[in-house]
Amino acid sequence: MAESERFDTLLKENRIFLPTKSFRAQANFNDVHIYEKAAEHPEEYWAEQAKHLSWEHPFSKILEWDAPHAKWFADGTLNVAYNTVDRHLENGRKNKAAIIWEGEPGDSKVFTYDMLAREVNKAAHMLVELGVKKGDRVTIYLSMIPELPIAMLACAKLGAIHTVVFGGFSSASLKDRIIDADSKILITADAGWRRGGLIPLKQNADQAVDGTEIEKVVVVQRIGEAANVTMTEGRDIYWHELMESMPTTPFAPEPMNAEDTLFILYTSGTTGKPKGIVHSSAGYLVGANTSMRSVFDMKDDDIFWCTADIGWITGHTYIVYGPLSAGATVVMYEGAPDWPDRHRFWRIIEKYGVSIFYTAPTSIRTFMKWGHEIPMAHDLSTLRLMGTVGEPINPEAWMWYHQYVGREKCPIVDTWWQTETGCAMIAPLPGLVATKPGSATKAVPGISVDVVDQDGQSVAPGQGGYLVITKPWPSMLRTVWGDDERFQKTYFGQLRGIYLPGDGAHLDEEKYIWILGRIDDVINVSGHRIGTMEVESALVDHPAVAEAAVIGRAHEVKGQAITAFVTVKEGIETSTDLIAELKQHVVKKIGAMARPEEILFAAELPKTRSAKIMRRLLRDIAEGRALGDTTTLADPSVVESLKLQYQDKE
Ligand code: WTA
Repeated sequence: MAESERFDTLLKENRIFLPTKSFRAQANFNDVHIYEKAAEHPEEYWAEQAKHLSWEHPFSKILEWDAPHAKWFADGTLNVAYNTVDRHLENGRKNKAAIIWEGEPGDSKVFTYDMLAREVNKAAHMLVELGVKKGDRVTIYLSMIPELPIAMLACAKLGAIHTVVFGGFSSASLKDRIIDADSKILITADAGWRRGGLIPLKQNADQAVDGTEIEKVVVVQRIGEAANVTMTEGRDIYWHELMESMPTTPFAPEPMNAEDTLFILYTSGTTGKPKGIVHSSAGYLVGANTSMRSVFDMKDDDIFWCTADIGWITGHTYIVYGPLSAGATVVMYEGAPDWPDRHRFWRIIEKYGVSIFYTAPTSIRTFMKWGHEIPMAHDLSTLRLMGTVGEPINPEAWMWYHQYVGREKCPIVDTWWQTETGCAMIAPLPGLVATKPGSATKAVPGISVDVVDQDGQSVAPGQGGYLVITKPWPSMLRTVWGDDERFQKTYFGQLRGIYLPGDGAHLDEEKYIWILGRIDDVINVSGHRIGTMEVESALVDHPAVAEAAVIGRAHEVKGQAITAFVTVKEGIETSTDLIAELKQHVVKKIGAMARPEEILFAAELPKTRSAKIMRRLLRDIAEGRALGDTTTLADPSVVESLKLQYQDKE
């Protein structure tokens, strides 16, 4: 039977995958009553989980909820770096591998917890020497090299707030984030490796810091001469030169209040300006740590590999804070999955004996396209559990992952969560919950979710609605940096005390949750969140453009792709050169992940009589659907001509 037919049959059978007896027997969470117990007393459940951390001063209060502002464990103090690194020097893990790092060119390094502690101590001393104090913001713009988690942990150790900017962002995006966070220190590298080429991090940084308050730029030398960087006297310093002169004496961890900010991470919203999501110290860590033990069933002898970039929340939580707080060994890979060839990921699993593997549906679909012969050529028998994150996984990709990577023996945890939620919220506990391909199943213990209509009423099974989280949880965002009003409006605007993630969903008869995707103007391209407004502003910034409307259309591999409809200014000639130029302009303004898949020129954009662009119609055009109601359009002929143009393109 052809592969696709086989999958079809399996899916039609509506297969559910029950946890095996042997998996359940060994699972950290294997008492099914945990769900009810946590639902009855969520605060007690979280207080119980919080005991897995080491507190400098124990908490006596669990939750203070003045909706939408939550304080968790408010009178407790702890240090996040102590919890992720130092405490393991005293609990038998001192010489255990903490980070196994694999460079793209094939170099590798292993940091034991002891070695990691030394690096973090030196880096904390270095930051103090540079004048960084508790509460200051430090912007980190690095690719996936060990100095990235080291810098983050050094900030946490002294109580500075880190704000990591993904290395794929342009200098303009970096600049906006530096200004918004008001950072005085930037940590970057001379350049980074990607598919054998160089990402010019330092050059981007040079452009970004101009006109900001940045006083010092610390530069990690990853590449050396080939990066061809210019160091600005008095401002730029090499990381290794500073680190060499730092004392190796332990840096005393700063006792932090539970609610002190650990980091800011920017994410896209419905306006052109990204939001600085603010996470707390203790609550965030409790969430991250708990999910490592529950959803990922982490054991001391596991090798955990999350393929995300630390520049996104998934990397923050599941490369750095979650696994290290649980004393795990993590694999961290610097480069691309197809460098030097398409076997790289599977070779890494084989090389290090990875036992828990966590990746994105878009990657799985890419691997599917490359063919199952590639993973099948490798011994992946060390794998025992696999996860996905970032977007809904289509059942076909789920089945492929199950068969060719997991070899039909690994449970799959489809984890739904967001930058704002801090850790996995909807996901199966692999020893307890039967899985259905394509469903993230149900909320983890201690989390309450529902699917509601516009008035906040629960919808019937099978009916689509808004996903909501009905109770506060420890790792929830605390605010939007510098804009609490935006925080309140965006996430709690409609229903008081009820968190609105911006996703659509439906429940099936068994109350399993099926995520339908974003319901706001946010696009999810290969698991990267991009605001349509951000791309529109980037396009309109080009001198030739009068107006732009951007939508996400369904894409086989990326989940969604960006389609832009553009009207040009009077007297401007449209051409394929201009299309290329506009795409490049978006890359320059935002970064390569925001490059439109296609740009269409329109004489006019379809608008309602009140001048609102009708994106729904643009999506219909881009996805080749029959057009919905066009009667509210000011000029219905506009869409017909756009539709013809779109068809011509193909
Ligand atoms: C989407 C990534 C379906 C969702 C951790 C959410 C998912 C957005 C899943 C957050 C999943 C994430 N199934 N959709 N398992 N995981 N999403 O902030 O639309 O980069 O709102 O966080 O990704 O993206 P973010």
